[in-house]
Amino acid sequence: MIDLIGKTALVTGAASGIGEGMAVRLAESGANLAICDLQESIHDVSRRIAADTGVSVHAAVVDVRNSDGIYGFVEESVSHFSGLDIVIANAGVWRPTDPVEDPKEKAVEDWSLLVDTNLKGVFFTGRAAIPHLAANGGGFILNIATDHICPPPGSATGGGTRMDVYDASKWGINGLTQSWAKRLSGEGVRVNAFCMDATDSAMIRFASSKFNRDMSEEVINTWMKPQQIADLMLELYAEGQEGRSGENIGIWLNHPIELPPKREVLPSRHP
Ligand SMILES: NC(=O)c1ccc[n+]([C@@H]2O[C@H](COP(=O)([O-])OP(=O)(O)OC[C@H]3O[C@@H](n4cnc5c(N)ncnc54)[C@H](O)[C@@H]3O)[C@@H](O)[C@H]2O)c1
Repeated sequence: MIDLIGKTALVTGAASGIGEGMAVRLAESGANLAICDLQESIHDVSRRIAADTGVSVHAAVVDVRNSDGIYGFVEESVSHFSGLDIVIANAGVWRPTDPVEDPKEKAVEDWSLLVDTNLKGVFFTGRAAIPHLAANGGGFILNIATDHICPPPGSATGGGTRMDVYDASKWGINGLTQSWAKRLSGEGVRVNAFCMDATDSAMIRFASSKFNRDMSEEVINTWMKPQQIADLMLELYAEGQEGRSGENIGIWLNHPIELPPKREVLPSRHP
């Protein structure tokens, strides 16, 4: 396993699912952790990880939609650990949205909840962290998108018929990933996104129940596990400063959970 002793990693939405899996693996690799979530249970997760791994954990209840909240948490974490190396912008929400059936009130509320959490939250997290990573001489940002924007070969993009707002929020992350990767290439900061298929978490269980999908143990066993996604994140980190940046990395069911060959970096048409 990669050695992250002396490094500091920040994970948003770490009280459950993929974020918690990321936090556990980072701590098992020796990184000090700054973790936050909307849920109070982030403190239980913090205590458990600290006891299991012995790393130092700074945890707080933070709403990533609130600029003061997430900027403040990043500042506190940097001063607590004297630096920042790894940022996983993971916090996200999902709910079904229907362009035919939803009344205006639901449309407005859905847009605020999903876009503010999934897109503005990633924006604030990255913007708060980037000056510190650049000042450090390098760093690693992983944005959490979805396979809806990066499907397996032969499949259409998009998540389905009741996903317009969720998908719009996740497509927006692509703009941040691409632009930050370019801007930060001279600063030693790599920026990529994970675009994963069904991974066992509260969110996928809720979505499956809303669509009356088969949730038998047999089906759930086919879903990926947060720890597998976290292991791939560590592999991506281990590529080092010369590693890829600006890539949407698809991670799909019925495919090996592995990094694809590094893509050629095409010249930009814009300064
Ligand atoms: N599970 C999947 O199949 C899957 C697939 C593709 C992408 N994703 C993405 O993975 C990320 C993690 O989701 P998950 O599947 O682990 O679900 P999850 O519901 O288990 O975890 C999401 C976490 O984010 C937290 N959160 C929500 N809103 C927040 C806010 N405003 N501020 C701070 N924290 C907030 C929640 O409290 C929760 O702990 C999300 O961005 C999701 O869109 C999940």
